[in-house]
Amino acid sequence: MSEFVNAALFGWYPYLCLTVFLLGSLVRFDREQYTWKTGSSQLLRKRQLRWGSNLFHVGILVIFVGHFVGLLTPIWVFDALGISHGFKQGLAIVVGGIAGIACFIGITLLAHRRLFDTRIRATSSFGDIAVLLLLWLQLTLGLSTIFVSLQHMDGHEMVKFMNWAQGILTLQPSAADYVASVHPLFKAHLVLGMTIFLLFPFTRLVHVWSAPIWYLGRPGYQVVRTRFAERRAHEAVAALQRSTPLRAGARPEHQLAE
Ligand code: HEM
Repeated sequence: MSEFVNAALFGWYPYLCLTVFLLGSLVRFDREQYTWKTGSSQLLRKRQLRWGSNLFHVGILVIFVGHFVGLLTPIWVFDALGISHGFKQGLAIVVGGIAGIACFIGITLLAHRRLFDTRIRATSSFGDIAVLLLLWLQLTLGLSTIFVSLQHMDGHEMVKFMNWAQGILTLQPSAADYVASVHPLFKAHLVLGMTIFLLFPFTRLVHVWSAPIWYLGRPGYQVVRTRFAERRAHEAVAALQRSTPLRAGARPEHQLAE
């Protein structure tokens, strides 16, 4: 791969993808909220959907957290904690590998269900099918990289990916140089990964933004008003209004507040 193509793919393409990902999601949320969902086909082939969906989602969530922490934690933090690069590489292979296999089984069940059941196929859009196949391919590439990683268990290749990802996110396109010499399987995995970000706003993947993680930070109570309490409140307001006749031109809530 020439230096120019490497710089374009790993130095500039990431910014195109991230910009479309963020702006596209925002515009879609603003203009097309009623399409902000995954079109459901859950009445059909329920069992296969349940197994496929659960395995896929558990797997991809573990992979997401693993990629996020693994690629974006500054290297000095691992060094300060005494976590060697070799140990981290082993962890990525074992945890990412197990989650990757679960996710792979799940997405294969989902793809089989969507492609080979004529009724589900008929209600699927081009985007529904394309996104499944892209994720399937990305997983296959990710899992194949494990065989390359096994050949450098000291973790030096992994450090290149960390430097690349952290360089790109701190606005340094020259970070492309870090991945110039990595195995083509890794390059394909990175390019397809970025392309998934690029296509994200145009697919059902936007539902990821609605994951109910906000609930985790909420206090553990909720306000409950029974119908009885509501009726009592209405009665109290009506009684107050009766006892204090409304002045001409005044609004009840203003007069009550006095
Ligand atoms: C821009 C997005 C992505 C980037 C930059 C990325 C990057 C990487 C890198 C650098 C590795 C090798 C880790 C190592 O062994 O040192 C890897 C492995 C892997 N990736 Fe991705 N990836 C992306 C998206 C995805 C997605 C969307 C999936 C799942 C559909 C995925 C699934 C995997 C799997 C299963 C592995 C092997 C296990 C592991 O090492 O964690 N990746 N990825």
